[in-house]
This record gives sequence, C-alpha cells and structure tokens, in this order.
Amino acid sequence: MRRSSTLVDVFLLLALFSGAPWAVKGSPHCSKRANTGEIRPHSVTITEFGAVGDGVTLNTKAFQNAIFYLNSFTDKGGAKLFVPAGRWLTGSFHLISHLTLWLDKDAEILGSTNSDDWPVVEPLPSYGRGRELIGGRHQSLIYGRNLTDVIITGDNGTIDGQGSIWWNWFHNKTLNYTRPHLVELMNSTGIVISNLTFLNSPFWTIHPVYCSHVTVQNVTIIAPPKSPNTDGIDPDSSDNVCIEDCYISTGDDLIAIKSGWDEYGISYGRPSRNIIIRRIAGKTETSAGIAIGSEMSGGVSEVHAENLHFFNSKTGIRIKTSPGRGGYVKNIFVSNVTLDGIDIAIRFTSHYGEHPDEFYDPNALPIIEQITFKDFVGKNIKTAGLLEGLEGDTFLDICLSNITLNVTSKSPWKCSSIQGYSDLVSPETCEPLKERISPEHYLDCYYLSDHIWISSNQNKGVQFLSW
Ligand SMILES: *[C@@H]1O[C@H](CO)[C@@H](O)[C@H](O)[C@H]1NC(C)=O
Ligand SMILES: *[C@@H]1O[C@H](CO)[C@@H](O)[C@H](O)[C@H]1NC(C)=O
Ligand SMILES: *[C@@H]1O[C@H](CO)[C@@H](O)[C@H](O)[C@H]1NC(C)=O
Ligand SMILES: *[C@@H]1O[C@H](CO)[C@@H](O)[C@H](O)[C@H]1NC(C)=O
Ligand SMILES: *[C@@H]1O[C@H](CO)[C@@H](O)[C@H](O)[C@H]1NC(C)=O
Ligand SMILES: *[C@@H]1O[C@H](CO)[C@@H](O)[C@H](O)[C@H]1NC(C)=O
Ligand SMILES: *[C@@H]1O[C@H](CO)[C@@H](O)[C@H](O)[C@H]1NC(C)=O
Ligand SMILES: *[C@@H]1O[C@H](CO)[C@@H](O)[C@H](O)[C@H]1NC(C)=O
Ligand SMILES: *[C@@H]1O[C@H](CO)[C@@H](O)[C@H](O)[C@H]1NC(C)=O
Ligand SMILES: *[C@@H]1O[C@H](CO)[C@@H](O)[C@H](O)[C@H]1NC(C)=O
Repeated sequence: MRRSSTLVDVFLLLALFSGAPWAVKGSPHCSKRANTGEIRPHSVTITEFGAVGDGVTLNTKAFQNAIFYLNSFTDKGGAKLFVPAGRWLTGSFHLISHLTLWLDKDAEILGSTNSDDWPVVEPLPSYGRGRELIGGRHQSLIYGRNLTDVIITGDNGTIDGQGSIWWNWFHNKTLNYTRPHLVELMNSTGIVISNLTFLNSPFWTIHPVYCSHVTVQNVTIIAPPKSPNTDGIDPDSSDNVCIEDCYISTGDDLIAIKSGWDEYGISYGRPSRNIIIRRIAGKTETSAGIAIGSEMSGGVSEVHAENLHFFNSKTGIRIKTSPGRGGYVKNIFVSNVTLDGIDIAIRFTSHYGEHPDEFYDPNALPIIEQITFKDFVGKNIKTAGLLEGLEGDTFLDICLSNITLNVTSKSPWKCSSIQGYSDLVSPETCEPLKERISPEHYLDCYYLSDHIWISSNQNKGVQFLSW
C-alpha cells in the first residue's frame, strides 16, 4: 500500500465497516426537492414580453426584458419564466438568481444562426484564452454568472443550438472566436437542470464552470455523431455536482470532467471534486462515455460514477492528460458499467498534447492515483485497456475488480508506466496490475465505494442531500 495510514484513513476504515451516519449509501436521487415546478411564487410567460414563437422572429429582447422584469422578484422567493409550445428563436441571454426557466411540452428555444447574436466575452481565467482560438469566446446561448438558485427545467421542452452553422464555420476555418456552449453557468451555486432535451450545441453542451451544487437530472442530449466538440456535460472546476438519469449521444465525450488548462489552470487552482454520476446511457463514435481531462490542471478528485451503459462508442472510460498539465486525478471510483460495441473499454492517454501557448511548463507532470474500475461487463469490445502512464511519473494504485470483457484483440491489455492491483479480470490483465487486491489495498481501491461527500446547501429553492 502506497498511502501511509493517517488518522483520517483509520476514521474512514471505521466508517466503512460501521455505517457512520454521514456515510449513507446509495441514495437514489441528487436533490430531495420533489417538484422544481411549484416553488416560485411569481410567474410570467414569454409572450407577455412580445415574443413570437414562429421560429423566425428573433426573441432575444423578449427574453432579456422578461428576465429584467423578474429581477424585482429575486428577494421575494424568485420567479418563473414560462416558455409555452412554439419555436422561440433567440440570441444569447443572461439568467438571474432565484429564477426558474420552464419549457413546456413542445416548447423549443432555438439558437440564432447569426454569430453576432452570441456576443464575445472574456476567456476563462483557468484557460487563459479561448479553447479553440486565441482571445475571447462567444457567450453561451443561455448564460449565467455569479448566481444562486437557478432551475432550468420543464416538460421535456427542447433547447436547440442549431449548431450546424458553427460546425461549418469550424470546418472551413472562418470562426473568429471560440464557439459557444449551449448552456454555461459560471461562478454560481444551487443549479438544477432537468427534464429537458438539448440538441445540436455549437460546442460543449452544458458547462458549469467555477460552480458548486449543480444537479443535472433526467435530460436528453443529442448532437450528430461527427459534430465537432459537442461534449454532453462538462463540469469544470466545479464541486458537489450530481449528474443522473441522462441519455447522451454526441460527437465528443458524453461527460467530461475538467479543471483548467496548463499554466492557467494550475495558477487558477480550482479543482473539480465531489462528483456523482449515475444511470447514464449513451454513445459517442469518436470519444468516451466518461472522460476526465484533458484539461485537468486544477485537479480532479472524489468522482463516483456508477450504473453506466455505453454502446457503439470509441471508448468507455478515459483519463486524458499531458506533461504540462500539472494537477492531479485521484480518488476515482467507477462501477457497474455495461459496454457493448466499444473499441477501447478503458483508456489512459498521457500525451494528449494541445497546449494553450508555448509558456506551459513541460516539467509540470500530472499526478494520477487511486483509480478503481469495478463490476464491468462488456461484449463486442476490441481492446480491454490501453493504459499509458508517464515515464518517470507512474500512475499509481490503479485497481481493476470484477471486469469481464468479451474482446476481439489478441493483446487485450496494453499497459505502461502504471502500477496497481486486480481481481477477477477477464481477459487476464497486464503485468503491472497482476498483484491481487488484498486487505491492505482496500483503502486505495475502494476509498470511494460507499462514500461521497456532497455537502448540503441551504440556498432557498434548492436543497441537496448530504451523503
Ligand atoms: C421532472 O419531472 C417529473 C414529472 O413531472 C417531476 O416529478 C420531477 O420532480 C421533475 N424533476 C426535476 C428535478 O425537475
Ligand atoms: C461577477 O462577479 C465578478 C467579480 O465580482 C464581476 O467582475 C462581474 O462583473 C460579475 N458579473 C456579473 C455578470 O454579475
Ligand atoms: C462570484 O460570485 C460572487 C457572488 O455573486 C461574487 O462575490 C464574486 O466576486 C464572484 N467571483 C468571480 C470570480 O466572478
Ligand atoms: C423525466 O422527464 C420527463 C419529461 O421530460 C418526465 O415526464 C419524467 O417523469 C421525468 N422522469 C423523472 C424520473 O424525473
Ligand atoms: C424527450 O424528448 C426527446 C426528444 O424528442 C425524446 O428522445 C425523449 O425520449 C423524451 N423524453 C421523455 C422522458 O419523454
Ligand atoms: C463556411 O461556412 C459557412 C457556413 O456554412 C458559409 O456561410 C461560408 O460561405 C463558408 N465559407 C467558406 C470560405 O467556405
Ligand atoms: C469573422 O469576421 C469577419 C470579419 O469581420 C466576418 O465577416 C465573419 O462573419 C466573422 N465570422 C463569424 C463566424 O462570425
Ligand atoms: C447496474 O446498472 C444498470 C444500468 O446500466 C442497472 O439497471 C442495474 O440495476 C445496476 N446494477 C446494480 C447492482 O446496481
Ligand atoms: C461482477 O459484476 C457483475 C456486473 O456488474 C455483477 O453482476 C456481479 O455480481 C459481480 N460479481 C461479483 C463477484 O462482485
Ligand atoms: C464472446 O464472443 C464470442 C465470439 O464472438 C461468442 O461466441 C461468445 O458467445 C461471447 N460471449 C459472451 C458472454 O458474450
């Protein structure tokens, strides 16, 4: 065992076997509030502000005016903006605190296809520049900053970014700034995004950055298989995030946990931690079901993912990093994963590349440790594991337990610069992981199996269970 035992470890070990009250197991839902629809004392409908749902009229002003009006209710319990059935074309608009944006059945918010309707904003400090181009970036269609208690929900209404024009601008290299997200919340707390469908984001679909207490529940996210960079949900330098009961099919990673880019992410220093992901199904022909990185310079830890089903995809679970990233990925526990039709079930990529500029420090090596994969079954898998650590920076305490994959490759595991343990793995695992998981490895391997430290949040409107 590599970790030296500390008082905390002893306490954890006791808790593990005694069922301490703060270690309640397997709670089924992120948020205990039963109905996010009934909590606001005031409500207005977007048509009261002149919106026209014909799919042609630009309604940016109507959304802005409605939200400006609702600002006077933020200290009176908040308000709901109701979007009825119709096709509501709009440019980017800002949310406010204590707001519910509610999309009724057959309501569709459509992103404008004119890039001028998506103003350019500052780059994120943890990225130092736009992710794809130097300089600023287009603001997301639905944007929030410095907010508390925001709910984006409805009766399976749709938010459609109409991203194909952005994908064309990307392919023909006529973008001037980094493409926008469909929804971005920055430096905010108490966020619920639920019961909706998100289509055709120009870039990453849902992007909470520098946020706390974020729930994404029961959403469908779709973009075409080859649409560029259309990640599903990207918690970025955010903590206490719960993502559950979602179907995601996009052109890039379905869920990607991030925390900033190279020297900018290192100096901003805000990790992503306490992240629960469960009951997610989906496919991605190009990328991974769950990815961590490649931007992970602020660190990623305490991630518990379970009950996942990925099919017809390139990769199941992937950790991506590079020299220059710095940071860490540790205490990751992924269990009960069903895979079908996957090229690489588990992948570590240690030379992902892609740097913001030439000023990154090539000696800033990431620390990757205590990563457990348990109870995986897979069929139609090409390669079980392609696990590349970094020379001189071995990835430590990688644990594989009860993994059964029906693979076609004759060398199903390829491993380098990693160290760890395994149990009940078929096909037989690679040499560096052959040592059995014995009781003295339990803390390294099962640290997070029953323990998730999502704290409670007392914001009015949204309450979270503490696990
Ligand atoms: C989703 O919709 C269902 C059915 O209307 C409702 O019971 C549930 O509270 C909603 N969940 C959230 C988080 O909005
Ligand atoms: C958010 O807070 C920052 C720091 O106080 C401030 O500079 C910025 O203008 C605020 N933005 C909004 C949209 O409130
Ligand atoms: C974040 O939001 C809080 C509260 O709205 C504000 O005080 C703070 O300055 C903001 N920080 C940044 C970096 O935007
Ligand atoms: C999921 O959302 C749909 C509407 O989008 C709703 O009918 C259903 O009840 C929700 N399910 C849960 C578990 O909240
Ligand atoms: C919501 O709508 C999407 C797209 O139309 C559909 O695929 C999904 O099954 C619907 N979800 C529910 C819970 O009705
Ligand atoms: C690039 O794509 C856009 C959007 O489809 C199109 O309007 C534009 O004419 C194209 N430009 C070039 C140089 O191909
Ligand atoms: C990029 O800038 C040029 C020159 O201002 C403009 O004509 C073009 O429409 C812009 N492209 C996009 C995708 O906004
Ligand atoms: C494993 O996950 C699947 C969904 O992919 C779920 O149906 C099943 O109940 C889970 N099994 C356990 C033991 O939780
Ligand atoms: C191994 O994992 C499978 C699939 O999740 C599960 O059904 C089975 O009970 C597990 N076996 C053991 C010994 O834990
Ligand atoms: C594994 O694959 C082989 C060859 O394709 C097939 O015969 C066998 O039934 C598969 N086993 C399972 C458990 O899917």
